[in-house]
Amino acid sequence: MSEPVLSDATISLVKSTAPTLREHGLAITTRMYEMLFEEHPEVREMFGVPDGEQEKRLAGAVLAYAENIDRIETLVPTVERIAAKHVSSGVEPAHYAIVGDTLLRAMMHVLGEVELAVVEAWGDAYDFLANVFIGIEAQLYQAAPA
Ligand code: HEM
Repeated sequence: MSEPVLSDATISLVKSTAPTLREHGLAITTRMYEMLFEEHPEVREMFGVPDGEQEKRLAGAVLAYAENIDRIETLVPTVERIAAKHVSSGVEPAHYAIVGDTLLRAMMHVLGEVELAVVEAWGDAYDFLANVFIGIEAQLYQAAPA
């Protein structure tokens, strides 16, 4: 799980999925949380009492990423806000592979026949973003040890 830079091909493939995500993003994240909580009950506890909005928040973040992946600097304030939330929830680096794997499977499940190249592009894009989160969160944990 290391993709130091996003290739132009990855950027344009991921960006091309934005209209689909606008339509099906909520179905994808709803499916993702179902699988995540079923397969990893220990992760469920981190989310507290479901407010029915978490699926929407994640779908919104995924769509914003797809739409802005070619000008990623505009996402910095959002990423920092989410990272702070993650740190207060105890999110650790190892969780990212679990969530990434589940998110990709949910995407394939909901979208059905999605091209392999698109799935691979999303895999790379997810790993890139996960590394950004992990880096920011490591700094936050260091600044305020639990
Ligand atoms: C690139 C991957 C991820 C994205 C895009 C993402 C996105 C988000 C967003 C948009 C929020 C809501 C922030 C707000 O309150 O406005 C959030 C909160 C949260 N995320 Fe993530 N997340 C990611 C990875 C993870 C991972 C790996 C975990 C670990 C299990 C995780 C656990 C949580 C938890 C526990 C919250 C707080 C939920 C609550 O308020 O109850 N996230 N995330």
